[in-house]
Amino acid sequence: MPPIPAALDRNGTPLRQDKRRIAETFGKAATTYDAAASLQQLVAARARLGLPELDLQASILDMGCGTGNETRALVERYPEADITGLDLSQGMLDFASQNPFLSNCHWAIGDIEELPFNEEQFDLVFSSLAIQWCECLSEVMAQVHRVLKPGGWFVFSTLAAGSLHELNAAWKSVDDKPHVNSYESLSRQKQRVASSDLSISSLRQQTETLYYPSVTHLFKEMKALGVNTVTETQQKGLAGKSTIRKLTEGYKPFVTEKGLPASYQVIYGVLRKPSAF
Ligand SMILES: C[S@@+](CC[C@H](N)C(=O)[O-])C[C@H]1O[C@@H](n2cnc3c(N)ncnc32)[C@H](O)[C@@H]1O
Repeated sequence: MPPIPAALDRNGTPLRQDKRRIAETFGKAATTYDAAASLQQLVAARARLGLPELDLQASILDMGCGTGNETRALVERYPEADITGLDLSQGMLDFASQNPFLSNCHWAIGDIEELPFNEEQFDLVFSSLAIQWCECLSEVMAQVHRVLKPGGWFVFSTLAAGSLHELNAAWKSVDDKPHVNSYESLSRQKQRVASSDLSISSLRQQTETLYYPSVTHLFKEMKALGVNTVTETQQKGLAGKSTIRKLTEGYKPFVTEKGLPASYQVIYGVLRKPSAF
């Protein structure tokens, strides 16, 4: 397989190491992602409930579009619109751009925190389960504000503190290293949104829980999604049978009739850039 090209920022500079790693990990998962993305589909469907009515030929950005699943949903909802999918990962964009249902879309490689677009370009920015990968929510808000037209909408989902708390607790029976991504609380994220120049139409948190027959099944799904992120240690840990045994033990207090729960604290937001007058 040829090496995946490094994503560039808007000045053509290669991305920093950690963002390159995110891009590469997602790129490698592009062909397995859709079959494993049950949480992502559930969350995106809920996020889409916040989509506004738009003029027929509106200009729309799907930020962190991944394989283009949600870009397709946007095409179906706004068939005449001019739709662009942006992602950090060339592998994801290659996959999305081959989808025949998305042949009229535009594609852009880039970083949400440095959007490669001009001011006031979009009527709607949509983003599902992508901005939690960014470093600074305030920067995300500033970028979205910049590229939205006055009166434009930002509809998104992201993760909050407490996500995967069962897995986090189970890892404590293995070691004290961080193995699960941490996120800011809803109240902290609310503060960041409130201090942006976007006005809040709605912003709420909901728990979404998936169940797995075993720790191995959970890890396989995370790997297929490209979200076995975080630290090298987690990946090394995955290989070891004794680690899996300890994790299974650590998970026991949470096990239900449905299996091992993996719960996510999901924030759903609908924001608007104030009109010029
Ligand atoms: C969990 S996937 C979600 C994809 C899609 N929105 C969906 O709901 O199926 C997250 C996507 O965000 C992209 N991503 C992560 N950080 C990003 C960043 N800073 N800028 C642009 N895309 C990013 C990843 O490459 C990945 O494709």
